[in-house]
Amino acid sequence: AMAEKGNYRHFMLKEIYEQPETVGRTMTNYVDEFRLSADAPEGLGFAKIDRIIIIACGTAYYAAMVAKYWFEQIADIAVDIDVASEFRYRSPVVSQDSLFIAVSQSGETADTLAALRYCKDKGLRTAALVNVMTSTMAREADIALPINAGPEIGVASTKAFTSQLTALASLTLAAGRARKTISRDAEIRLTRALTQTPRLIKEALLLDESIEAIASDLSGKSSAFYLGRGAQTPIALEGALKLKEISYIHAEGYAAGELKHGPIALIEDGTPVIVIAPYDTLFEKTVSNLQEVASRGAFIILVTDETGAASAKDMADEIIVLPNSDSFVAPIVMSIAIQLLAYHTAVARGTDVDQPRNLAKSVTVE
Ligand code: G6P
Repeated sequence: AMAEKGNYRHFMLKEIYEQPETVGRTMTNYVDEFRLSADAPEGLGFAKIDRIIIIACGTAYYAAMVAKYWFEQIADIAVDIDVASEFRYRSPVVSQDSLFIAVSQSGETADTLAALRYCKDKGLRTAALVNVMTSTMAREADIALPINAGPEIGVASTKAFTSQLTALASLTLAAGRARKTISRDAEIRLTRALTQTPRLIKEALLLDESIEAIASDLSGKSSAFYLGRGAQTPIALEGALKLKEISYIHAEGYAAGELKHGPIALIEDGTPVIVIAPYDTLFEKTVSNLQEVASRGAFIILVTDETGAASAKDMADEIIVLPNSDSFVAPIVMSIAIQLLAYHTAVARGTDVDQPRNLAKSVTVE
């Protein structure tokens, strides 16, 4: 069926609001909610491989970057990630014991497809994590992994991103079990955390109006920085990408620890800095980076959870308080805030949110 906007002003907003449902749907492909464990197709060979290579472009690449943290920490497996346009031309060294995963909403992005073909030619086992199961990548990979997010019409990806994350989180848990790197107790705790995400996303969506108010301040700015640490670093990068794609405000995402190696030179009075920092083991470190920019006049928008807010609320000019979640799934929950922030900023600036200038939904030529 043709996608309809319904009562939403834009497809992007509709797709943001679909996420409790789409994330839940993604999970049904991988997670057994009763047994509290995740399954992955045998053919991925998680028990045997010694490395995963994940290749993607754009937003899908940031999903891959989150997955690197997950697979390394939970399944103790080395992960290489790269953007497809670099990977395909740098003569990458790939070993036969590696699993290649292409991540692509459309399954048609030319560079990602070329990377898939490169690894297939080298004899690697290949998988494609796609939204469109009839796509070229789904057909050509040894294994097609669905996200089932339904048609995504907004050029700026939202629900496909959180579904990619959900599928990759599930695959991580399956890999952890196959490789015996997590105990049954840990598996239960992490799987349960994952199954809570639709509810947490629903709660996050209740922040819509308060984020809209913050966006009206951001919409008058000409540039912004996004900071994160660990698995929140890719969310900072994705937040900056979303903002530039649809609001045309110049935005850069950084690993918070890299700030003092250059970008801090750009902080002036009023420069917006969006800090993504749920309360986890890296929280204090990120907060100290927050203080470094705050003392140079930055306008701080802190995106955190309830526990983080209780401990750092006086340090920010604006604060977005998401529900507490297990740090495993916090990147998925935090995503909702950066999507709504970009969306409302773009609407306040009057841009064409669903069809931003110069961008295509999928880039099928180089
Ligand atoms: C285009 C879109 C992005 C998307 C990227 C990768 O640039 O505008 O939203 O993330 O392509 O697309 P894919 O279909 O491979 O995920």
